Formats: sequence, C-alpha cells, structure tokens
Amino acid sequence: MLDSQTDEIKSKLSVEEVLSAYLQTQRAGRNLKAKCPFHNEKTPSFMISPERQSWHCFGCNEGGDIFTFIMKIEGIEFYDALKLLAQRAGVQIKSHNPENDGKKRNVFEIVEMSRKFFQECLKIKNGKLALRYLQDRGLTTDVIEKFELGYAPDSWDLLSKFLKSKGYSETDIAITGMTVKKDQGGYYDRFRNRIMFPINNIGGQTIGYSSRVMPGSNESQAKYINTPETLIYNKSKVLYGLDKAKSAIRQKDLCIMVEGNMDVVASFQAKVENVVATSGTALTLDQIRIIKRYTKNIAFSFDTDSAGIKAANRGIEMALAEDMNVSVIAIPEGKDPADCVKKNPELWEKAVQNPKLIMEFYFDSVFSKYDCDHIDGKKKIAEELLGIIGNISNDIDRGYYRNMLSDKLELDEKIIFEYENKIKREKSGFVERIGTNNIAKKRMITREDQLQQRILGFIILYPQFFQDLFLDLEDYLPDDRINGIYSDIKNLYQKEGKINDELIGDIKNKIAAKSSIQDQGSSILHIWNVAALAVEKNIDEIGDMRKEAKTCVVNLKKIRLKKEVKELEIKMKNDAINEDIEKFDKLYKELNDLENK
Ligand code: CTP
Ligand code: MN
Repeated sequence: MLDSQTDEIKSKLSVEEVLSAYLQTQRAGRNLKAKCPFHNEKTPSFMISPERQSWHCFGCNEGGDIFTFIMKIEGIEFYDALKLLAQRAGVQIKSHNPENDGKKRNVFEIVEMSRKFFQECLKIKNGKLALRYLQDRGLTTDVIEKFELGYAPDSWDLLSKFLKSKGYSETDIAITGMTVKKDQGGYYDRFRNRIMFPINNIGGQTIGYSSRVMPGSNESQAKYINTPETLIYNKSKVLYGLDKAKSAIRQKDLCIMVEGNMDVVASFQAKVENVVATSGTALTLDQIRIIKRYTKNIAFSFDTDSAGIKAANRGIEMALAEDMNVSVIAIPEGKDPADCVKKNPELWEKAVQNPKLIMEFYFDSVFSKYDCDHIDGKKKIAEELLGIIGNISNDIDRGYYRNMLSDKLELDEKIIFEYENKIKREKSGFVERIGTNNIAKKRMITREDQLQQRILGFIILYPQFFQDLFLDLEDYLPDDRINGIYSDIKNLYQKEGKINDELIGDIKNKIAAKSSIQDQGSSILHIWNVAALAVEKNIDEIGDMRKEAKTCVVNLKKIRLKKEVKELEIKMKNDAINEDIEKFDKLYKELNDLENK
C-alpha cells in the first residue's frame, strides 16, 4: 500500500522539480548537476538523474530518491517526508491502520488541550507562585510563552475533569499518560503541583511533558516526572527544544547539548538558540542521528566536575562513533547554563562561541588534575592521556596528540612512545574512557570501488560492449551487490545469447520490483542507478566510450592482481614454497600482460 502511494507521488513530482526548490542546478547532458547541500564543496559533484528519478553525490556518497532527499534536507522521518510530498503532489495518504490513527489523533488533541489548561493555570492561584519562580530564575514572559510553560494544579482530578468536560472518556485520557490508573480502579492526574515543560515533536506539536517539582515542595518527591511512553511519545527519539532550535542548529552548524529543560529555555533567553536537551534519559543513538541530519558538529555543555564528565561520556562516545565532531563547552559560571544565564547572559553567549575540541578538553582536565612539573605528575598525566590517545583511530590525529603530550610534558617523544607501549603491555585493553576504539569509521571509497561502479555503469548503458569487454568479471567484483547484478546480467546473456538495452531494461524492472521504498540508499536499485550516473557524470570528457570502458576493466584487474602478488610475496617471505613460486610467476606474468595492454 505504501509503495503504491509513493509511486503515485513519484509520478506526480519529478526529482528535478523537488530538488530544484533547494538547489541551484545546472544541466549536464541528460542529467543535472549541483553543489551538494550535505557537504561542503567547491565544484559540483551532486548529480540528479531525471530519467531514473534519483540523485547521488559522488563527493559524500549520499543518494536516493525524492523521499530520501526530503528526509535529509528537512531532517524528518520517512513518514513525514511522505506526508510532505503527498501534500505537494496532491495525493491523499491512506493509512494502514485507521483505528490507530484515530487514537493517535485523540492523544494529540488531549495532550494539546492539557497544555492550554496548564498555561492558563500559570496565571491563577498557586500557578502564580510557579510563574514567579520562573521569573525569579530570570525568564521573561516572552520566553515562558515561547516554550509554553505551564503549571499543573495541586489536585488529583482537576485536569481529568476538564478533559472529560471536553468529551473525552477516562480511557481516552489514560492512554495519553496524563492520568495514572489506581489499583482499586479509577484514575488520578499524573502531574500535580508541578511546573510543566511541554515536549514537542520536530513539527512543534506537543507530545508529552517534563514536569518539575515546585520549589520548597516535599523533598521526597521526584524532582522531575515525565510522560511515560505513549502512542505519540517515545522519549529516546525526541529532543527537548529541537522544534525551536533546528533552524539555528543548521545556521550555526552546531548543536549544543545541555542537561536540563531549564537550560534550554534559559539559553534561548540569552539568544543562544541552537540548544537541545534530552528529557530524563541519557543521550541515545537515535537522538544523535536526528541531530546529525542538521549538523555534524555537537558540543556538550556540562558541569566539568567528574560526575558531569561521566554523564556525558557515553554520549560523547556515540557521537564520535557516528563520525561527528565533538567539542565541549565549559560552563563559565554557575552550576549549569541556566544558572550562568541568570548571572550574566553574555557570559553564556561568549562561552558557546568557544567550544573546545574534545581532546583539548581532556588534555586540560588531566593536566589540571596533576602537577606536571613533578615526575610523578608527569607519569600520571601520560598514563591517563596515552590511554585516550591510543584509542584514536586516525593515525595523523593520534600522532598529533602524542606529539602534543610530549611537548607539554617536556619529554622526548621516544620516551612517550616507549611508555605507551609499556602501559599497553601492562594493561591490555586499558582505558575505554572515550571509547574511540570502537568508532565506526565510514568506510573510505577505494579506487576499486569506483572502478566496479563505473564498469557496472558501462554495462548498463552500453550493453553492446558486453560480449567484448565484460565477459569474465565475476572474480574481479568484490562488492557482493555489484557482483550479484553482474551475474544476473551475465546469466541472461548466456540464456539469450545476447544482451541489449531491452534485456537490460527487463533486469532493471525486476530489481525495481524487489527494492523496497524504505531501504532507499542501500537498495540494489540504488546501486544500479548510481552506477549509471557514475558514467554519465563525466560523459562529456570521455571521447571513446569503448576505450574508456576497457581501461576501467584493465585497471580493475590490475588492482586485484597486484593485491594477489603482494599477498604471495608476504607468504613467500614467511615460507618459500615452490608451488607458490610457480603461482607467483604466473601472476606476475598476468600482471605484466595487463601492463602491456
Ligand atoms: N531529570 C529527571 N529526573 C530527575 C532529575 C533530573 O528526569 N529526578 C532530568 C530532567 O530532564 C532535567 C535534567 O535531568 O531537566 C537535569 O537535571 P537537573 O539539573 O537536576 O534539573 P534542572 O532542569 O537543571 O532543574 P533546576 O535547574 O530547576 O534545578
Ligand atoms: Mn539546573
């Protein structure tokens, strides 16, 4: 059902039309070119193929169709991209679960209505105390309204009664999390005598609440009570403030993570708007990925005491593993950003302009912990920092920080190096503080990858060369998906005794039928489209297609043979076996033949 709707939308909206609204495009043969909106570049490597209704950036390797583009550029989920494009195309989206949809609608309505109720309550009776408290903490009426802060009255049923008067049943209300079921039957209001922070989804709709205890209340109460998981609220996928912060995050190309709701609101008050917080959870991978749609840069702002660092560690680790640039903003004054803003908003404004790279931060904090003029201090510093440095996956970065350490400790780098090895031997698996060891590095695109891609592109676009140039490639295509497409084509060739545009078209249709819309970007169809685009991309610069295709094949084979020769060389070094020598000679000859071609 979903697939037929996406097809309908695609038939009404062309890729050029949708993408041109965001990009400055220029013609490039049958395709369009643009500067990639997802990474920085001077010359355009972002290609749009109207024929295949797809796009791909050969610089950052992102690609897909109109849906993936909208998801990425708007920073929204698939379903929301679907809704957005459906609207643009004038297509009605049918739901697969109308009953659930109805329920969800109710939940949205009730949560929203509660918000208005809480906002009203802030103006009367005890609510005024809450308002005064917020104002005492330095918040203006403007920002209180912007964040729609409210007050839940000190009552077991005032909200329930209000909602029932609007026509909702007890069970309607219960599934929104606004009430709690009693053991002996019946329900009571979950939030009582509390300051209410509405939590919104990315579109700005309220989906739940974080509620703070009133100042001076009974100490035994939880400081914060949040909405439980509901049909519309999933705490690990939402970030407090993101609906308001998203454009500033994109503009500043930085997302600042603070700890509390209060910190987000206060930061806005100080005109620092690229700020979000989690609500009652540690930062999750889902949340990091959401942030990543807006920026690759994340700065953690936390209390620089050890508890603060510890709390942020896991988030830092995950952000690094997601290949984000991680930095730290030290809170210049007070225990948290809200405190700092209250004392002096300019201090906070200044602080956020100077995020410290995470390594720099670790250096500073370790150096301030020990006496680096004293030999014992030097040892401690070296031990702690080398543990972290040793886990950096990039060689150059690692060398750089090792060097910096030796400079700062005024010790020869050789000594540092030996000490590092000694520590490693003594405590294998030492220190996982920032865990850069398990950074999932995005795999580099190798020359071999590029050649495989281009060759598949030539096969698709010029099947007439198949018999001549592409008959014996199965051992040279290590990419399983490319190899899979290749064998489909070759099988068909063998069955039909020929291959042409029409047969290629048949194969593509089969692949398209199997590719699901949901895995755009990783689907076989996508691999197919990108391969064709890889050839079309600089088709103007290619004089002789056949020659170019042949060169690709030869180069691809060379890479494989060179690898094999190298492996054999190593093997022979270890144990010289005649059989290997023979094999070596054979390989060497093959390689030479290729070179001569
Ligand atoms: N938190 C929570 N449950 C608690 C304490 C805290 O869910 N019992 C979460 C809340 O999301 C809170 C954040 O952790 O916003 C930070 O906690 P804290 O610094 O104690 O709260 P603040 O919001 O800074 O509150 P305040 O400054 O008003 O004391
Ligand atoms: Mn606080």
